Amino acid sequence: MRFGAVLAISASRVAASHSGGAIRIGSPFAPITGRLSCIRQPKAASLVKITISALGFQRRPCGSRPVRFATENGARQILDIGTGIPTSPNTHEVAQSLAPDTRVAYVDNDPIVAVHAHARLTGTHATAFALADLRDPQSILRHPDITALIDFTRPAALVLVAVLHFIAEHEDPQRIVRTLRDALAPGSWLVLTHGTDDTAVHDTSDAVEVYRTSAATLNLRPHRQVLGFLDGFTLQEPGLVTIGEWRPDPGTQVTRFGIYGGVARKPQ
Ligand SMILES: C[S@@+](CC[C@H](N)C(=O)[O-])C[C@H]1O[C@@H](n2cnc3c(N)ncnc32)[C@H](O)[C@@H]1O
Repeated sequence: MRFGAVLAISASRVAASHSGGAIRIGSPFAPITGRLSCIRQPKAASLVKITISALGFQRRPCGSRPVRFATENGARQILDIGTGIPTSPNTHEVAQSLAPDTRVAYVDNDPIVAVHAHARLTGTHATAFALADLRDPQSILRHPDITALIDFTRPAALVLVAVLHFIAEHEDPQRIVRTLRDALAPGSWLVLTHGTDDTAVHDTSDAVEVYRTSAATLNLRPHRQVLGFLDGFTLQEPGLVTIGEWRPDPGTQVTRFGIYGGVARKPQ
C-alpha cells in the first residue's frame, strides 16, 4: 500500500533500531525492516508524521505540487538536495512527465541513499546523483557530476524538501542557502519545506528529542526564521504556508501540518 511505501522512505532518518526506549538514528535502509516497530513508539510517531507531511509536499501522487509548479513555469533543470531513498514519483519523474527534457541532479550525504539512487535514479543521461553534504554547498556546486548536468548560468530549480531542518544553527543554514542562491541564475526557483512547531498541530517535542540523541538533529524553526531562508527570492503565491495549504489539488481536504512550504523565484 502507498502508505507503507511512503513510510519506508520517511523513516530514512527516523529510527534504525530501538532498544529499551532509546531510538537511534542510523542508516536509512534499516528502518525499512524496522519501520513497524518504530511507528509503534510514541516518541517516533510525531516525527513520522512530520516527515510524511513533508514527503507529501514533493511526492504525493496527486501532487508533487511545487516541482510540478516550477516545471510548468519553465524550470528545465532541477537540483534536488536531500533526495532520500527513491520512491515514486521521484522528482525527475514528476518533472519529465511535464517536460521530458528536464535534467535532474540529486544530492544526498547518506551512502545508503547513494546506493539506491544510483540503482534507481540515474538510469538516463538526464539524471545524476552526487554523494555530497549540504553543509558544504561548494562541494555540491563544484561536483563534476552536478556541473556535467546542471548549467548554473541558466535558471534552475533548487529543491530543499525536508532537509534544511537537519542543519543546526551552528552550521549556519542561512549561509548555506545564501551560497546556493548566489550560485543560481536569475529566474531560478527555490522549493523549500521546513519543520516548525509554530502551528502546534501536533506535539513535536518528542521528535526533537529523538534527534537530540542521534547523529542528526531536528531543528524546528518559526515562520519568521524559515522566511529568512527566502531572502533574495520573490515568494510565489500563496507564500510560506503550512504544506497542506500550499496550492492544494482541487477536492483535497486542507490539513495544517507542522511543516512550512513555499516556492520562491530569484528575480530575473
Ligand atoms: C526526510 S528525507 C527527505 C527526502 C526527500 N527530500 C523527500 O522529501 O522525499 C531527508 C534526506 O536528507 C538527507 N540529508 C540530511 N542531512 C543532509 C545533508 N547535510 N546533506 C545532504 N543530505 C542530507 C538525508 O540523508 C535524507 O535522505
